[in-house]
Amino acid sequence: MQKFNYPTQIYYGPGSVKEMANSIVQMGIKKVLVVSDKTLLELGMVGHITDTFHAAGLSTAQFCDVHPNPIEEDVLNGIQVYKKGKCEAFVALGGGSPMDAAKAMMILVDHPEPLAQYDDTKGGDQLIKKPLPPVFAIPTTAGTGSEVGRSSVIIIKATNDKTILFHPTMMPKIAALEPELTKNLPVSVTVNTGLDAFTHNLEAYFAPGFHPMADGIALQGMALILDNLPLVVKNPGDLDARGKMLIAAAMGATAFQKGLGMIHSMAHPLSSECGLHHGLANALALPACVEFLEKSELNPEQRKRIRDVLNLFKERNMQRSTLAETCRDFFKGLGLKFGLSNHGVKKEDLTKLSKKAILDPCHSNNMIKVTESDFANCFAKAF
Ligand SMILES: [Fe+2]
Repeated sequence: MQKFNYPTQIYYGPGSVKEMANSIVQMGIKKVLVVSDKTLLELGMVGHITDTFHAAGLSTAQFCDVHPNPIEEDVLNGIQVYKKGKCEAFVALGGGSPMDAAKAMMILVDHPEPLAQYDDTKGGDQLIKKPLPPVFAIPTTAGTGSEVGRSSVIIIKATNDKTILFHPTMMPKIAALEPELTKNLPVSVTVNTGLDAFTHNLEAYFAPGFHPMADGIALQGMALILDNLPLVVKNPGDLDARGKMLIAAAMGATAFQKGLGMIHSMAHPLSSECGLHHGLANALALPACVEFLEKSELNPEQRKRIRDVLNLFKERNMQRSTLAETCRDFFKGLGLKFGLSNHGVKKEDLTKLSKKAILDPCHSNNMIKVTESDFANCFAKAF
């Protein structure tokens, strides 16, 4: 087992969850609320984690009703269990959804409802004044990297609007990356989440702004994915490759503190309007966006950034003529079926999707400025 800090404290390898439990006990915390979802409960993973915690002398309560795209009710219901059980910290177990839900719960423990008033894009972070209880994170997918992030997205059901929460103290105190926990993920989920991580690294590397540390992390994150995602698809029990994917996902989320871009702006409405898995939505949108960039007028630095990513493929004999084509080929090799139309998106949805994409904040960090009609073209291409 290894420990390092960048910027979250990360425990990596077999035994990480046990060591996390010991650390929580050492902090003087006696009881935690484990936040997870129904699938992980049914798979016995919640039980496995709580057993490990109990063996370390830590009491637990659990809330396992988080929706795939968490809603405000999940947050309110979780807090009731937290307060009733006199818990002192949260442990988020799962993909991005339980992590987002747990981070939102941290705010509402000591701050009044409704959640929407804390929306970071409307200055709501200023209302977060009291100290937040700690959260610890155990990812079961290698994708969002939410275990090293300090933001959360919650859907307000009545309006279908997203509330984006962001606060430095929402960052998990420790993330335990245990490859064993991801080994039973279906291949399609492994690929979709892995390509979300790839998109985070790529968009962070393409985002303008001076952040050489994030750039270095993003390039290495992509390299890890090129080397290890195919191995995991071929042999889902390859724990070494699974572990590297967990690291690459954490790297993606660390890097994208620099910013994301237009791919995520397309992926967000594809999920909220058409129900596509977030990682799948990114993967389907990525080649069209990269092609758009490659065909745009770019300055030498921007061209170099595209070349740098292409070189990662070239070093591995995976390069095609353009980066868009190279990515498309790589994704196809992982079993991805291209075409939004093959995933339930209707032609008549495209206008609405473009209108939503231009309202999404992610593309403000895109390599170049993008318009609604650029989005329309990219959606049409990806269709
Ligand atoms: Fe993402």
